[in-house]
Amino acid sequence: MAETLNVGLLGCGNVGAAVARMLHEHADDIARRSGARIELACVAVRDASRDREVPIPSERFTDDPMRVVRDAGIDVIVELIGGVEPARSLILAAFAEGKSVVTANKELLSRHGRELFAAAARAGADLLYEASVGGGIPLIRPLRESLAGDRITRFMGIVNGTTNYILTRMTEAELSLDEALAEAQSLGFAEADPAADVEGYDAAAKAAILATIAFDVPVAAGDVYREGITGIGADDIAFARRLGYVVKLLAIGEVMKDEVSVRVHPAMIPGDHPLAAVRESFNAVFIEGEKVGSLMLYGLGAGGDPTAASVVGDLIELARNRSRGPDRGATVGHVEHLITRRLKPVDELSAQYYILMQVADRPGVLAAIATAFARHEVSIKSVWQEGHGREAQLVLITHRAGEAGLRACVAELRGIDTVEAVSSVIRVEAGEP
Ligand SMILES: NC(=O)c1ccc[n+]([C@@H]2O[C@H](COP(=O)([O-])OP(=O)(O)OC[C@H]3O[C@@H](n4cnc5c(N)ncnc54)[C@H](OP(=O)(O)O)[C@@H]3O)[C@@H](O)[C@H]2O)c1
Repeated sequence: MAETLNVGLLGCGNVGAAVARMLHEHADDIARRSGARIELACVAVRDASRDREVPIPSERFTDDPMRVVRDAGIDVIVELIGGVEPARSLILAAFAEGKSVVTANKELLSRHGRELFAAAARAGADLLYEASVGGGIPLIRPLRESLAGDRITRFMGIVNGTTNYILTRMTEAELSLDEALAEAQSLGFAEADPAADVEGYDAAAKAAILATIAFDVPVAAGDVYREGITGIGADDIAFARRLGYVVKLLAIGEVMKDEVSVRVHPAMIPGDHPLAAVRESFNAVFIEGEKVGSLMLYGLGAGGDPTAASVVGDLIELARNRSRGPDRGATVGHVEHLITRRLKPVDELSAQYYILMQVADRPGVLAAIATAFARHEVSIKSVWQEGHGREAQLVLITHRAGEAGLRACVAELRGIDTVEAVSSVIRVEAGEP
C-alpha cells in the first residue's frame, strides 16, 4: 500500500483548482509513478464558503493559510496565491516547519529568490518551481538537470503569452495594438490592467529566473533591462513583414566572457527563425549550449491545466525524494553554487537596429541624416523611403552598432529640422531573414 503525501494547497484559483482536479483524475497513475498517494488535505483561499467545483470536501477549505502551513499533519505546501505577500511569509514559515514547497510564483521568486532558496537549504527542504516560467512547458528541470553538464551560452524566449497574442494579431489581422489588446482582454488572455504583460514586467521576472538557472548567476527582476511592446505600431509590423522579419517580445540571456546580459525587449527576428512560428498565446524558449547546440522548448505558457501539469510534476518529485529517506539533503542547491559575473548594462551591448522616421521630402535630408549616423559610428546597411512630401517615411536597418552610439545618434536625428519624428527603434536579433 502506497504511503500518503499530505499536501496543503494555498490558493484555489485558475491553477489551484486545476491542480485539485488533476490530482483527482490522475490519482492512480500518480501513485504508481511516485510511490505515494498525493492527498489534498487542506486548501486555503480568501473566501472559504465559495463553491469551486473541485473534488475536495468543503470542510477541507479554510481562509487561514498560516494554519495550513503550521498543521503538523501536512507534509508539503503548494503556494498558488501569487504576488509577494503573504506568499513570501507563508513559504518562509513552511520552511521553518521543515516542509518543502512547490510554487508557480515568478514574481516572488524573481524578487526574493535568494532569500527563499537560502531558507530552503537551511531547513533541508526543497523549493520547486517548474510552473513559474512557461506554465506547462518543462523548462526549469531541463535546464537544471538534463543540460547541467553543458554550458548554456544564450537563451532567447517568448515567455509572455499575452504580448505574443497581441503581436500575432497585429501581424496576421493587421489590428492596431489597442484593438489587439482589447481582443486579448475579451478572450481572457489579458488582465483588465495589462501593464505587467505589455510593459514587459512579467517577461522580465521570467528572464531573471531563467538566467539564474542557465548561467548560475544571481539575477533579480530589477536587474533585467526591460522594454515593453507599447511603442510598437502597425507601421513597424508592416515594414518588418516586407523586410522578411517578425516582431516578437523576447527575453534574452547571453554569456559574454565573464559577463552576462539579461534583457526583455521587442525585436525583429527573421521570418524563418523557429521563434517566428510561435503564434498566439504559445510560449517557447530557444536555447544554445556549447555542446548541445540549439534546441527549442515550446508549448502552452499559461492556463490552469498546463500550469497544473508542471505543479503536479514537482509534487511527484517531492514524493519521490521523500521515499528516498531523510538523508537525501535539499535538491535545491541553488545558492551554494552561484557565481558572480558582472551584469552587462544594455548601453554596452551592440545590435542591429531598425529605425523608422518621418522626414520632410526635401533635397539634402538624407545627407544630414547620414552625417549624424557617421558621427556616432553607426553604419547604415539599407534604407528605404516611402511616400512623398509631408508623408515621407524613412526606414533604415543598421549594421551592428553599439547601443550607446545608437542612442546618441537617435538624439541627434531628433534635433534635425527636416526630421519630424523618429517613431521607432527596434533591435534586430538572430541574423538575416
Ligand atoms: N494562471 C496562469 O495561467 C498561470 C500560469 C503560470 C503561473 N501562474 C502563477 O500561479 C499563481 C496562481 O495564479 P492563478 O492564476 O491561479 O491565480 P488566481 O486565479 O487569482 O487564484 C489565486 C488564489 O489565491 C487565493 N488567495 C489570494 N489571496 C489569498 C490569501 N491572502 N489567503 C488565502 N488565499 C488567497 C484566492 O482565493 P479566492 O479564490 O477566495 O479569491 C485564489 O483562490 C500565481 O503566482 C501566478 O503567477 C499562473
